[in-house]
Amino acid sequence: MKMNPQDFVAMKGSKPIPMLTAYTCPVARSIEEAKVPVILVGDTVGMVEMGFDSTRDVTIEHMEYHIGAVRRGAKKTHIIGDLPYGTDIDPETAFINAQRLMQAGADSVKLEGPNIEVIQHLVKCNIPVVGHTGLLPQTAKNFKQVGRSSEEAKRIMKEAQSIENAGAFMVVLEHIPYSLAGEITEALSIPTIGIGAGPDCDGQVLVINDALGLGDYWPPFSKQYAYVSKTVLKVANEFSEEVESMKFPSNIIQFTGTNRS
Ligand code: KIV
Ligand code: NA
Repeated sequence: MKMNPQDFVAMKGSKPIPMLTAYTCPVARSIEEAKVPVILVGDTVGMVEMGFDSTRDVTIEHMEYHIGAVRRGAKKTHIIGDLPYGTDIDPETAFINAQRLMQAGADSVKLEGPNIEVIQHLVKCNIPVVGHTGLLPQTAKNFKQVGRSSEEAKRIMKEAQSIENAGAFMVVLEHIPYSLAGEITEALSIPTIGIGAGPDCDGQVLVINDALGLGDYWPPFSKQYAYVSKTVLKVANEFSEEVESMKFPSNIIQFTGTNRS
């Protein structure tokens, strides 16, 4: 059954929340089959799938396309859709764009930073909101850990608290010191989902391409559970060799069936 925002809040303190990003239908289908309760269609799609250098190149149309594909693959999983750079500049603009993501198949939207008025407005308009603090890729100059000085740590703690007070039901903590993530997790009553934020969060999120080893770079705090890029290379090599040597297709086996009965 599809989880709603209240279900995630209820998990806080009792059961860690696993979250993965997805951008395509077949990957979303497998993630749903694994019973991962929440999929994030992140604007990381711009970097890990589209070849852009920054998430700032992602548009609302790109997000609609990918959210639609993920929804068709994962009909019963809670889907969070990222509001891309520039689409949440004021409450009314954010509402129009959030509605587009919801119509494309999202159950909630995520936005970066302490954009308090925007969060309040979306929540008032019945759009569930996930916050995001710590490293904010849409506006950061680099991808270094943030929150190391005590002033920065205080600022991030305050941001997390104001995101909760504005009505968000969950917050992503990206690339901050583990101790700070633990303190924020304790201070909030909504679940924290960490990425590069250590073990003391209420849940963890990984970018699926990083977890799959599908790419040419991944951050040190991610984990590779497979090396799919190597598999693609192997398949492409074998296929081209077999075509060149006329081993594929074979004239002995004529396949007429389908693996989708
Ligand atoms: O876009 C994304 O995938 C994200 C995660 C890194 C949290 O925002
Ligand atoms: Na994002």
